[in-house]
Amino acid sequence: MASQVVRVPKSRTRTSQASSVDEYEAKTRRSKKMYLDARKVLAGGQSHNARFFEPYPFYASRAKGKYIWDVDNNRYVDYWMGHTALILGHSPRVVSEVLAKQIRDGLLFGTANKYAVELAELVSSCVPCAESIRFCTTGAEATMYAVRLARAHTKRKQIVKMAGGWHGYNSSLSVGVSFPYEVPESAGLDPSDEHLIRLARFNDIDSTIKLLSTDSSDIAAVILEPMMGAGGVLPADVEYLKALREQCDRIGALLIFDEIITGFRLALGGAQEYYGIEPDLCTLGKILGGGLPASAVAGKSEILQLVDMTAHRPKQERCWIGGGTFSEQALSMRAGIATLDYLRKRKNTIYPSIGKLGDQLRKEIDKKFAEHGIASRSTGAGSLFATHFLKRGQNDIRSPQDVISSDEMMTKRYYFSLISNHGIFFLPGHIGAVSTCHTKSDVDYYVKSTEIVADRLNSERSESNV
Ligand SMILES: Cc1ncc(COP(=O)(O)O)c(C=O)c1O
Repeated sequence: MASQVVRVPKSRTRTSQASSVDEYEAKTRRSKKMYLDARKVLAGGQSHNARFFEPYPFYASRAKGKYIWDVDNNRYVDYWMGHTALILGHSPRVVSEVLAKQIRDGLLFGTANKYAVELAELVSSCVPCAESIRFCTTGAEATMYAVRLARAHTKRKQIVKMAGGWHGYNSSLSVGVSFPYEVPESAGLDPSDEHLIRLARFNDIDSTIKLLSTDSSDIAAVILEPMMGAGGVLPADVEYLKALREQCDRIGALLIFDEIITGFRLALGGAQEYYGIEPDLCTLGKILGGGLPASAVAGKSEILQLVDMTAHRPKQERCWIGGGTFSEQALSMRAGIATLDYLRKRKNTIYPSIGKLGDQLRKEIDKKFAEHGIASRSTGAGSLFATHFLKRGQNDIRSPQDVISSDEMMTKRYYFSLISNHGIFFLPGHIGAVSTCHTKSDVDYYVKSTEIVADRLNSERSESNV
């Protein structure tokens, strides 16, 4: 094997005081070495683009409850919570106990199994549109299948998605995710996928309705997250979702909610319960598997019946979706059952309580920054949150376009300081998630830490203006 010289990239988050990066490097020496070693065998040093942050990510060694530890034994209060999947925190007892049993009773049956039926019944009882369900393993698969189903059902080809909308790495929806939206998201994508996607402006009723009224006879579906996650943690206006629902019905297109993040999170029944608007199909993932890989396409039986092989349709009329070797594997099904059952039995206390902590974060973070002359907007809903920094002339953050125009470098510096100086973790610029393990004193500590960072960012700004 050819030896490769790898260096830690020069950090663009380095500021005049440079202290956050120095402190981070001083306390994460093992992670730094691991990163350099990892790059020789793992392309880019790890396997999910979002998990990289400059100068290098710390490497985790264990996690429990609200905490995650790195290989240098630094402890962080974790608000990333496994890409938001861990609503009950890391390794909750209710899940780990059933998993310990299931490890002895079979990992992968590779056949129809009773736990998948049990989980499907549970999902169907919680999620308003979920009359019928197909399990798969990742969110990217689920959104790919949802699009395929919509095309099969409507016999149309075009898909409308939000500019800035992220639905996983499947090729059909890897269009218009990051700015500039017109440029392909990756080398190696087939340009013909691009021609089947039309991009709408999130939360902009007029332009979206106009888009949906033009050449509408070939629009199979509109797919969106009712609260955009990677796009900036941006809740849809209820009026926007209502307009989409009405317009989809008018033109005969399906409405798909990608609820990989919002499912079982904004409410037990996801965003569709939270907003009171029912899509035709939805995709579920993350919390669904209780910390293990599981995803699903769910929706109206009339649509899902297209996957039923007992109907003996010719192959061009059936819709083959779902499955995969690890779909319905026993551990994920049981972790999902344990988690959803726990949430269902306590939904009247859990959702208000994690939502209250989310509200406190959004409100008090912005207050602390304002007190230091910095205009921030903390977005999100319920237990999900993120903070953006307004540039001169900006008043609010309601769409991914607003996020792009905001001071994203300031966002990165804020989050990096929380990691390096305050032991608070979530991926810089991504989504924060409160779990049932977090308490009011965690949130108070977060706010106190924010105050210290705000003070520092403000004095750095004054220094650079001298
Ligand atoms: C809204 C949304 N859809 C789809 C996906 C893809 O899910 P997965 O990472 O399980 O493939 C994600 C992942 O974060 C997501 O946030």
